[in-house]
Amino acid sequence: MALLNWNDNLSVKIPSIDEQHKVLINMINRLQDAMSSGDSRAVLGDIFDGLLKYTAQHFSYEEKLFAEHSYPDTEAHKKEHQAFVAKVVDLHKQFTGSSNFMIGVDVMKFLTDWLVNHIQGVDAKYSSHLVAKGVR
Ligand SMILES: [Fe+2]
Ligand SMILES: [Fe+2]
Repeated sequence: MALLNWNDNLSVKIPSIDEQHKVLINMINRLQDAMSSGDSRAVLGDIFDGLLKYTAQHFSYEEKLFAEHSYPDTEAHKKEHQAFVAKVVDLHKQFTGSSNFMIGVDVMKFLTDWLVNHIQGVDAKYSSHLVAKGVR
């Protein structure tokens, strides 16, 4: 599976958020890389854990901005975040709970597709609202 590359189609025109999205992309790429080079479960587990924590931080950052700037689509957006966190927590539990559970191509594809679709679909929608409020 190809690594994800940052490109301008992923920009939400808010530098602080673009930076966080780049970190998420890097973490997914690191996981992909560790998986293809056959790194140990301990290494994979650490990266997975980091991804989960950073994702939660990033979602809180966006949600704080929604609250501060009365973003109208807040509830629907938060639901998307919650569903993704629930799914990743579940994958993480399966991974830590069973030595038979592997992070494979299907998991990587899920993470990559979700992130790209979320940034270009749901995140892109807040861009003009937050930019107009002066968020950088
Ligand atoms: Fe985001
Ligand atoms: Fe989001």
